[in-house]
Amino acid sequence: MSIPRMRLNGLRQNTVGHTAMGLWRHPDSRAHEYRTLRHWVETAQILERGGFDALFIADALGPLEVYQGRVDAALRDGIQTPTDDPLLVIPAMAAATARLGFAVTVSTTYAQPYTLARTMTTLDHLTEGRIGWNVVTSVLESAARNLGLDRQIPHDERYLIADEFMEVAYKLWEGSWEDSAVLRDAAAGVFADPARVHPIEHKGQYFSVPGIALSEPSAQRTPVIFQAGSSPSGSAFAGKHAEGVFLSTYKAEMARDLSRRFRQQAAAQGRDPQSLKIFAIATVVTGATDAAERLAGLQRYTSLEGSLARWSALLHIDLSGLDPDVPLQHAETEGIRGLVDVFTTMDPDRTWTPRALAEFVGVGGGGPLFVGSPGSVADQLEAWMETAEIDGFNLADPIPPTGHREFVDLVVPELRRRGRVWSEYEGSTLREYFRGEGLSRVSDDHPAAAYRR
Ligand SMILES: Cc1cc2nc3c(=O)[nH]c(=O)nc-3n(C[C@H](O)[C@H](O)[C@H](O)COP(=O)(O)O)c2cc1C
Repeated sequence: MSIPRMRLNGLRQNTVGHTAMGLWRHPDSRAHEYRTLRHWVETAQILERGGFDALFIADALGPLEVYQGRVDAALRDGIQTPTDDPLLVIPAMAAATARLGFAVTVSTTYAQPYTLARTMTTLDHLTEGRIGWNVVTSVLESAARNLGLDRQIPHDERYLIADEFMEVAYKLWEGSWEDSAVLRDAAAGVFADPARVHPIEHKGQYFSVPGIALSEPSAQRTPVIFQAGSSPSGSAFAGKHAEGVFLSTYKAEMARDLSRRFRQQAAAQGRDPQSLKIFAIATVVTGATDAAERLAGLQRYTSLEGSLARWSALLHIDLSGLDPDVPLQHAETEGIRGLVDVFTTMDPDRTWTPRALAEFVGVGGGGPLFVGSPGSVADQLEAWMETAEIDGFNLADPIPPTGHREFVDLVVPELRRRGRVWSEYEGSTLREYFRGEGLSRVSDDHPAAAYRR
């Protein structure tokens, strides 16, 4: 049996501080250059050199202002605030690369399917079939308030909206234009044949879209669909729609429980559970002989307040009132006890104070931290992937783009020697990397296929 390929994505947000807090101050970090095309082009070229499937770009639509009830701490460390648009940096990266895919985050809660379908098709045209969409429903109250709502739409209703959003988008991508609609027949004077372009006539609970898709079909038609929700409604949504799933857990055994749940949900929807590609967030610190010192060098710059600000937003709990050195076990609120459970399952022997938690997530927030020589990191990645029953990793970069460059220069050659990372891309569209060469369209068991003409 051949060894399964280890699929790799780069993980970034169009911001200064994403998974590592305070590390923008590290001399090797160029995180502040996020607002330049130069930075994104360089990042994309590094990842493509390493055979990465895609760059995953996270996004948030509101400032982080749960900690202390204000945005100050997030601003001081540039934690997801400021943040730029993730879509606009893609064409420049696509022009500077030939194979790297791009999985970009857009929220179904605040977009319109008619315009988003066109945006995604435009990107699929410009990248020649290298686009994926990370479908999120958004969790920040601050986004809701700044986007015209008094408060967030309730959680499960956001998923109902998302589900109908997908239906409309699939109709536009798969069902409006026939493959043969564009004739470009100069002699007859017909660019597109009106008889082969169909209105979708969608009328649902949340959206009404009677017309035709504005864009002609792209290489993949439907972008590769990614999802990251883990609640019952989130994982049901993933089981139905996702082709790629993003996980954020610290222990391989916890990741395994989640991946099994996602695959079961896919099977329950009549889909091949193995067609779901599952990626876990991970951070790597490596060096031929000095990985431990490098980690210590990174840890010197982590920000306690920044980490607490980020986790306050993730948990919807203001952690600022807590003494940083008093064990969380003594905290009064239920939400914090929930948090304690997460960390005590991970390491029951440790006393989890806010400071210990912040130090723990300071460099590798969101997932495991693999530290060691290239050989040791490769061992750790392989073991984690096997135990967690996942298909690969979303590699964060605490000091962009240096972390990704070191990974590609040091660890990828080792993974290639072991047959885990391909030396040449097989195919040229993102879906081909998932499904195999020649398979750029959704599989027959995916819900989008039902709307094909
Ligand atoms: C690995 C990972 C990446 C995520 N990326 C984003 C993101 O970029 N933007 C966003 O709004 N939410 C993001 N989320 C949040 C999820 O979309 C989802 O809202 C969250 O996991 C809560 O899931 P639930 O709503 O099913 O409970 C991410 C979650 C995970 C686990």
